[in-house]
Amino acid sequence: MEKIVIEGKTKLKGEVTISGAKNAAVAILPATILINGICTIDNIPEISDIKAYCEILERIGVKINRISKNTLQIDTRNISSIEPPLEITSKFRASYYLTGALLGRCGHAIVGMPGGCKLGARPMDQHIKAFEALGATVDVEQGKIEVKAKKLQGNSIYLDIVSVGATINAMIAAVLANGTTTIENAAKEPHIVDLANFLNKMGANIIGAGTDRIRIQGVKELKKEGTYSVVPDQIEAGTFMLSAVATRGDITIKNCITKHLESITAKLIEMGAKVEDLGGDAIRVSMNKRPNKASVKTLPYPGFPTDLQPLIGVVMSLAEGTSVINESIWDSRFQYTEELIKMGAKITAQGKVAFFEGVEKLVGAPVHATDLRAGAALIVAGISAEGTTQIYNLEYIDRGYEDIEEKFRKLGAKITRVKE
Ligand code: EPZ
Repeated sequence: MEKIVIEGKTKLKGEVTISGAKNAAVAILPATILINGICTIDNIPEISDIKAYCEILERIGVKINRISKNTLQIDTRNISSIEPPLEITSKFRASYYLTGALLGRCGHAIVGMPGGCKLGARPMDQHIKAFEALGATVDVEQGKIEVKAKKLQGNSIYLDIVSVGATINAMIAAVLANGTTTIENAAKEPHIVDLANFLNKMGANIIGAGTDRIRIQGVKELKKEGTYSVVPDQIEAGTFMLSAVATRGDITIKNCITKHLESITAKLIEMGAKVEDLGGDAIRVSMNKRPNKASVKTLPYPGFPTDLQPLIGVVMSLAEGTSVINESIWDSRFQYTEELIKMGAKITAQGKVAFFEGVEKLVGAPVHATDLRAGAALIVAGISAEGTTQIYNLEYIDRGYEDIEEKFRKLGAKITRVKE
């Protein structure tokens, strides 16, 4: 078993470069199935969710050539199965995009119900509604979803809930359908825009991604080759912004899109941090005092992202006064608070609300990552805390952060990974 060991009380200082966005890459990889050709995708983060995705794609006949650490050449000319291996699809959430992609390309897919971080109920009713609107039959049986259609037909899809996954799955399935599809009440996250940019570069006809109405004019086929570079990771950038504040440090974050960081920037300024947009693709965040208390409600983009909720929870644990978080996306995203309490935080979490009575300092302790972002939050807590922190369940962290220890080490953290 591996664990991360942190000797704490370090003010993080220096520069960090952000990797490609996990949640964009895990949508673009399956979307390459629509191409029936060869494309080269750059800025793909080297993380375990991507490794798992590549393994699934290879098992259904896709040839993947790793050109460099972050560049993959993907050949989807010879898809040999519409039933990806259940033992891998069940490991992570984004495997559900294979349903839309195989349905779009082959008119048939049998995909195991996805796994992923346990954040409460994660139903797929809106995905199913979208596939059915496009004319597919959908059967859910024995942990698998089977979708079938002779030829998908464009239609108007109104999502009852703003869902990232359902918006992406509907968009992927509609690219090669007959006629026009409109997705109303669509999610607007940067990774949705990035997927649309990729598909359009490959010959799709999608307009409105980034607004709540996306229109997809079906095309007969996509181009047989092309290149694309994945957008920088908004959540990784936010993680480092929040780590500068939690450790009272000074970090310049490079290769980020500052527009994607507006809700985080506004909240950090409210909490007393200095945030400078350095122009181009960099932002500098510094903090030299205890943060002010604040109140946060997580919302779909452009609201405050749920994926940074555990990270701002660390900052609030160290703030002056009592802060509050309303989690409006997931039913069960406060499990990490029990770990922070072991480190001296004073938190009361009930249902989807948590109160953080700020303390002067956190103290190192053995803790367990309860999901991906919770793991990142514990690292930041450990760096800010007095004494030694040991973090277990690293498989969660490895799913979504590329070179995380190395990036924190370069900023001055005393962080190592050891085998027990
Ligand atoms: C994506 O999950 C992200 N995952 C999550 O990031 C992120 O927390 C979430 O969007 C919200 O931003 C990926 O992109 C791979 P949703 P997704 O569908 O698509 C409900 C991380 O840490 N809902 O937008 O699964 C659902 O229960 C991960 O990187 C339905 O009711 O999220 C939730 O309450 C964790 N029916 C809400 O909608 C549906 O059919 C939003 O979920 C679909 C969703």
